[in-house]
Amino acid sequence: MLRTFLLAAARSTTCRTLVERTPVTRGLVSRFVAGSTLESALPAVADITRDRLVTLDHLGEDVTDAAQAETTVTAYTRLLKELSDAGLADRAEVSMKLSAVGQFLPGDGEKIALENARRVCQAAEEAGTTVTLDMEDHTTVDSTLSILRELRADFDGVGAVLQAYLHRTEADCRDLRQAGSRVRLCKGAYDEPASVAYRSKADIDRAYVRCMRTLMEGDGYPMIATHDPRMVAIAGKLAETTGRTADSYEYQMLYGIRDAEQTRLAANGNRMRVYVPYGDQWYGYFMRRLAERPANLTFFLRSLVSR
Ligand code: FDA
Repeated sequence: MLRTFLLAAARSTTCRTLVERTPVTRGLVSRFVAGSTLESALPAVADITRDRLVTLDHLGEDVTDAAQAETTVTAYTRLLKELSDAGLADRAEVSMKLSAVGQFLPGDGEKIALENARRVCQAAEEAGTTVTLDMEDHTTVDSTLSILRELRADFDGVGAVLQAYLHRTEADCRDLRQAGSRVRLCKGAYDEPASVAYRSKADIDRAYVRCMRTLMEGDGYPMIATHDPRMVAIAGKLAETTGRTADSYEYQMLYGIRDAEQTRLAANGNRMRVYVPYGDQWYGYFMRRLAERPANLTFFLRSLVSR
């Protein structure tokens, strides 16, 4: 119920204005967002890359005009140049939402998103790193996977997120487990109907394990994106039984979540990548983090009351 409410609020402009105007929000946002500009986020990136890998997300989604999409492309090309100049491109890649580069624009949105994503992939190739496409709500999956296929024809390092809570995802994992394919497997962060997605934690966890097994048994590069200790332990066991070496898959977690576990996994010889978001369009991302964990919301509300 609460999760549904928060995820609906994540897409409401009225709630957005209210939350953004609340002074105390800033402090809480900084727990999950590395900085409001690239410059302010780079020190965190340099710090994390001492023992872990990074994927950077220039925050933004659901752009409503081509000019905004162009601004996103410019932000990513600048980010990639900075990573290269700072000598971080071998430890940091980028993550991108196709809705931030035009996927939802009326008419030829998908075509615009493909061309814009192509420019970001080109910039990533020049910088010596890769791009991973985030996955948004279920209505975008076919379009995102079709854009992934087009991009991979020219840039074979491009990866994508699959969400284990969707009924279709086991089949998508089978389609995307060939050599060279990079799949970031997460549980899924949107409020999806029961017609397309598992809704209970137990069902989602079981689906996550099935998808993990499919990817681990395949020839691609699985990216295990979860904070769930059980899933992390099962991933380790699957890697053993499928004979995977530590460099043939990786763990991924979000910036600000389970930091000690991130460093523990890295210290044990695992590849561990942190998803680091930055920018001033943090609202949707922040609300999804609140929705994932009631304790985050309680902390937020308590801070409001105790001001
Ligand atoms: P689960 O929600 O079961 O949580 C397990 C434990 O992790 C909790 O008990 C708690 O300890 C900790 N935890 C989880 N969320 C927390 C939070 N917000 N704050 C504090 N602690 C928390 N989703 C999507 O739909 N599209 C996408 O493209 C991506 N991309 C993505 C990239 C990466 C690198 C990660 C790690 C995650 C995503 N996600 C995503 C989000 C994902 O779908 C999911 O919503 C969250 O990861 C939470 O699910 P867990 O697997 O962590 O398990």
